[in-house]
Amino acid sequence: MPYWVFGYGSLIWKPPPHAVERVPGYIVGAVRRFWQSSNDHRGTPENPGRVVTLVSLEYWQSLHDPHPYGHDDVVWGVAYRIDPAKEEEVKELLDYREKNGYVDIDIEFHPASEAPAFSTKVYIGTPDNEAFVGPQDPEELAAHIVRSHGPSGPNIEYLYHLGVALDELHTDAKDPHIADLITRAKRIESEIH
Ligand code: BEZ
Repeated sequence: MPYWVFGYGSLIWKPPPHAVERVPGYIVGAVRRFWQSSNDHRGTPENPGRVVTLVSLEYWQSLHDPHPYGHDDVVWGVAYRIDPAKEEEVKELLDYREKNGYVDIDIEFHPASEAPAFSTKVYIGTPDNEAFVGPQDPEELAAHIVRSHGPSGPNIEYLYHLGVALDELHTDAKDPHIADLITRAKRIESEIH
């Protein structure tokens, strides 16, 4: 079985090593949110930043999300096929890289080309992990992202990269949750400087 990984965050613009195929597309039945705290990439243990995770549409609908955008239950991203000879190496790297609360699950991926769907791995921060933050006020979330920094760089850079990567991915790939956070973060930044 080929090893495919679905990227919906930084993996969209920063492919995993030894990726031999890159397929834009989407998964169904999930919502992407900046609901995972990051103490090792875009924040620190003292001041954790925020990165994306996926929650099931069903779970999302049971919550009171003050940011009610982007709930058409489709999440766009990229599926990568990993060189079979490097599978274990890449699994270990992703498991390590995403250790801050993420687990991997299998999910059905739909290529943008309308080729048949296939199964991929995806890393998600589930609601029961301690780094899971849950619903946040969008203005506070944007301000939090603007002021957070970590070993991988400023949190705001992650947000802006994600916006650009989605714009470049596909005409349907826009995510209103991300687009709205970018608008707010740009305004907050301009007020600071
Ligand atoms: C990603 O798609 O970039 C990703 C998101 C969360 C954990 C691992 C990878």
